[in-house]
Amino acid sequence: MDSLAGLKRTHHCNELGAGDIGKEVVLMGWVLRRRDHGGVIFIDLRDREGITQVVFNPAVNAEVHAKAHALRSEWVLAVRGRVEARPEGMANPKIATGEIEVLVSELRILNTSKTPPFPLDEEVEVSENLRLKYRYLDLRRPSMAANLIMRHRACQAIRAYLSGNGFLEIETPVLTRSTPEGARDYLVPSRVNAGRFYALPQSPQLFKQLLMVAGMDRYYQIVKCFRDEDLRADRQPEFTQIDMELSFVDEEEVMAINEGLIVHLFKEVLGVELSTPFPRMTYAEAVARYGTDRPDTRFGLELIDLSDIVRQCNFKVFRAAVDGGGVVKCINAKGCADFSRKDLDDLTAFVGQFGARGMAWVKIKDDGSWQSPIAKFFSDEELVGMGRKAGVEPGDLLLFGADRPEIVHQSLAELRLELARRLDLLDPARLDFLWVTDFPLLEYDAEEKRWVAVHHPFTAPREEDLEFLESDPGRVRSRAYDLVLNGNEIGGGSIRIHRTDLQKRVFAALGISDEEAAEKFAFLLQALEYGAPPHGGLAFGLDRLLMLMAGCESIRDVIAFPKTQKATCPLTEAPSSVSRRQLTELHLRPDWKE
Ligand code: AMO
Ligand code: AMP
Repeated sequence: MDSLAGLKRTHHCNELGAGDIGKEVVLMGWVLRRRDHGGVIFIDLRDREGITQVVFNPAVNAEVHAKAHALRSEWVLAVRGRVEARPEGMANPKIATGEIEVLVSELRILNTSKTPPFPLDEEVEVSENLRLKYRYLDLRRPSMAANLIMRHRACQAIRAYLSGNGFLEIETPVLTRSTPEGARDYLVPSRVNAGRFYALPQSPQLFKQLLMVAGMDRYYQIVKCFRDEDLRADRQPEFTQIDMELSFVDEEEVMAINEGLIVHLFKEVLGVELSTPFPRMTYAEAVARYGTDRPDTRFGLELIDLSDIVRQCNFKVFRAAVDGGGVVKCINAKGCADFSRKDLDDLTAFVGQFGARGMAWVKIKDDGSWQSPIAKFFSDEELVGMGRKAGVEPGDLLLFGADRPEIVHQSLAELRLELARRLDLLDPARLDFLWVTDFPLLEYDAEEKRWVAVHHPFTAPREEDLEFLESDPGRVRSRAYDLVLNGNEIGGGSIRIHRTDLQKRVFAALGISDEEAAEKFAFLLQALEYGAPPHGGLAFGLDRLLMLMAGCESIRDVIAFPKTQKATCPLTEAPSSVSRRQLTELHLRPDWKE
């Protein structure tokens, strides 16, 4: 093995171009690929920034060439050499350094490597578990390195913007009390306080409100949050928020500041100019038209409400749904009358996953007539009414949902996305931002038989709806807002309650007794009594935002060391077992087998 002594790197592996021809340079990096062409050895040398082709020619330096014979994938090298133009026709326009190569005069082998468990060439599909086990190799792959570089640039841009707008970066505790974001807590037992536990924060919500009471005026933090919930492609047990809170503001100001942040971020990191203001939609409209509070507005296929038209019809399923307080809605899949029986069966099974008990369909034939097992149940007037409302034309396919509103909305919202995937309507080049506003303050949890906060219990109700807080809680709208990008909830926040009396009233509506409120949130209620200013804020899911900016399918691809869907880390094998002694110290008596 050689030493680095006396050698200093002059360039990264993405930097050299035609303008550098003739220069002597020193590069350091890893062997990505090695090719032996009739005695001349070519190495693609890779570092964080890119790839440069380095050449070992026996006719130029026989000793160095002989040494290069030993090189294998992922060995670590330092090379000194001269930048040369690649021969006629050999340029590689796919890489930044494709016009040149470096003819090596000195080779130092800084380390060898075992053969990697998977090739690091981009084209190869590798199981994610293996990638996570050897994450330090996976991160060498240029696309993964690019994601981390982008993450770094995004964080710098966010800090610059927020600092420039008067926000202070302030850290909040990780060992704390349970915070009410609605997921399960990660708990940490206390050694010095037997039987007591810290909770890892689901968000810094209460601390940022306390910082407003403390007069900090504008706070932000790029901060880890912890939630023990079922994981999906866009959810991790620990994830990062861009968290902020502002004093003396209303929702317009919070939204304007955050549009500014997103515009700045996309320009700095992606060079994309976004136009503002972002469109807005109320929660009620989003659910009515798209079945969800985070609609992907890049394509149509909206939900059409036919409940009024079919109220008296002879099709039992539809009639029973409306009679029972439910709805009948359809999607007009334009031009899809050629879907096969199997396509329809597959889609019926698809909506079944979301609780739909069936999926009635109608194909509109060339002569405008309806081909459907259910057509016979409707009067001419009903057929005309439905056709008009759904805007049907020959060749269209109508797909129906009839059930309780939640089931129809969820299943048709998912069906809408599935149709868009099948019909290739999800334009990756489009960035459709949407503010969703006027959320209900509370929703009824049928399982727990009580009202729960849609956002969190510190969200302010709309002043004009306050009178219904006790009499008709479902009618009260909140001062919350979410930002949606291409159907993903990338952030959410609200104007908060800043007076104790109103906070207590909302707790009461949530069925949180005075004792329970005092036990869980005494410190917040107390703080509100010492001159809390009007305040509000928002938090973005940084990982989700970056996933969309990088065009990735999973937030794991923009996190250096993420966890699997089962919340494990294949690299460190966390969570791991601990000794009896540690448990005893923590005053825990396990009852599981070891
Ligand atoms: P909320 O719970 O909506 O609000 O979280 C804010 C944003 O964080 C992201 N997010 C997640 N990302 C990855 N994995 C998860 N498990 C996960 N959970 C949430 C989402 C979401 O929009 N304290 C409030 C904010 C406020 O009111 O200011 C809060 O945490 O993109
Ligand atoms: P059935 O009367 O059960 O044979 O159903 C006739 C058609 O209505 C079939 O295409 C079913 O998939 C569909 N269907 C049944 N229940 C529902 C429902 N709740 N919503 C929408 N379509 C349904």
